[in-house]
Amino acid sequence: MKISIIGTGYVGLVTGVCLATRGHQVICVDKQEDIVKRINEAQPTIYEPGLDELLEGAVSKRNLLATTSLMDAVKCTEVTIVAVGTPYSEGKIDLSQIKQSVREIGDILKNKDKYHVVCIKSTVVPTTTDTVVKNILEEASGKKAGRFGLAMNPEFLREGKAVEDFMNPDRIVIGAYDKKSFNTVKRIYKDQFKAPIIRVNLRTAEMIKYASNGLLAALISYSNEVASICEETGGIDVKEVLEGVTLDKRFSPRVGDLLINPEMTTYLMAGCGFGGSCFPKDVKALVSFADNRGYSAEMLKSILKINETQPLRLVSRLETAVGGLQGKKVAVLGVAFKPDTDDVRESPALIIIKELLNKMATVVVVDPIAVENADKVIPANASSLCYSSDYKYALQDADAAILATSWPEFSAIPAQEFVMLMKNPVLVDGRRVYDKQAMEAAEVEYIGVGLAEFLP
Ligand code: UDX
Repeated sequence: MKISIIGTGYVGLVTGVCLATRGHQVICVDKQEDIVKRINEAQPTIYEPGLDELLEGAVSKRNLLATTSLMDAVKCTEVTIVAVGTPYSEGKIDLSQIKQSVREIGDILKNKDKYHVVCIKSTVVPTTTDTVVKNILEEASGKKAGRFGLAMNPEFLREGKAVEDFMNPDRIVIGAYDKKSFNTVKRIYKDQFKAPIIRVNLRTAEMIKYASNGLLAALISYSNEVASICEETGGIDVKEVLEGVTLDKRFSPRVGDLLINPEMTTYLMAGCGFGGSCFPKDVKALVSFADNRGYSAEMLKSILKINETQPLRLVSRLETAVGGLQGKKVAVLGVAFKPDTDDVRESPALIIIKELLNKMATVVVVDPIAVENADKVIPANASSLCYSSDYKYALQDADAAILATSWPEFSAIPAQEFVMLMKNPVLVDGRRVYDKQAMEAAEVEYIGVGLAEFLP
């Protein structure tokens, strides 16, 4: 099929490259000439494992090309996927890029006789596609929806695993204005991807995306809340608790003698909170969307509240352990919102760093690839904050260390190294990656999230 995609950011480029790899003819559209040039030279404009190889293959087979001309792209394709950004600001998602894109598409559709489907992939709150998008398209094209197709096809891509997730989807959700729109978008996926295809209406598709991220965020905040109760009680390890909970057959079914261990049981772990470009933004957007509809989404609000306080709890435990933070040197291990990315957006590590600085600690932050981005958000200064990519430098003479991102290189630091390098080996494990017993045997004071000494 011939498909055009507007927006060559994270979602747009991954979608374009993956669809081209599956044999579609894809045209990526971006206003910036340098981005278009780089894509046509098979150079990815974002970092995502596996993308470079697939882009190279797609460009060399001429299955993918990039252009600045939306007109050319829409005219010679059957479907246009809109994958522009919808950043969250001032209590709502910003639809300006969506509005501009669909207005431009509508203008082009005015003079296109052949049937064309506009498919929204950007994350937008329910009702956006069947009101805002539809109205703009009808107004700009001078045609009623039905003469052109309209669909909403959300993405469920994890950063760092986006290519893998796109190529092996667990479900394909197609919200469609009518049957013809659905059948057209279905042809993109049918026979190419092995996953159930769900047909729903436009606003249901939008809601499925928010409800999915909201549920995952809820499970994380719930785990963190249980962890806090374990900490306040003592003698209970949240890791064991969650293992016990997820063995419920509704999480871990048994097929014959085989116990199925779904990814959820390893994904879910108490920690220092969720970050990234999706969970925080999507939960906040759903809260304000509900508020605007006159419904106060109390549970979603609590998810966010727990997530904000979780990193602070860890700092507070650290403070108690070292007897006050003023003038103490603290090493923060990891600033990316999760491993395998240099993305620091909404990272809980940033809250930890700010809180340590508020409490007058001297902070050394170490991360294999994210320090440059972190420095843009909280700039280094000579007196209290510096960044490094060398964990030994960070741990040297430190009064305490706090692990915020479970990078494998940090998980592999042996207990002896904490003892040798640090002035005072106090270690707060914000992701539960270390072995408590091994740490204590080496005389590291170990503080794990969701774990505290037995209190009679
Ligand atoms: C997420 C969803 O997983 C994906 O389906 C959706 O389409 C986009 O949002 P992503 O943000 O890339 O993907 O990362 P994910 O691996 O889900 O982690 C998000 C955050 O939650 C990270 O900060 C991670 O450290 C944190 N997390 C995850 C926890 O704190 N505890 C957990 O148990 C799991």
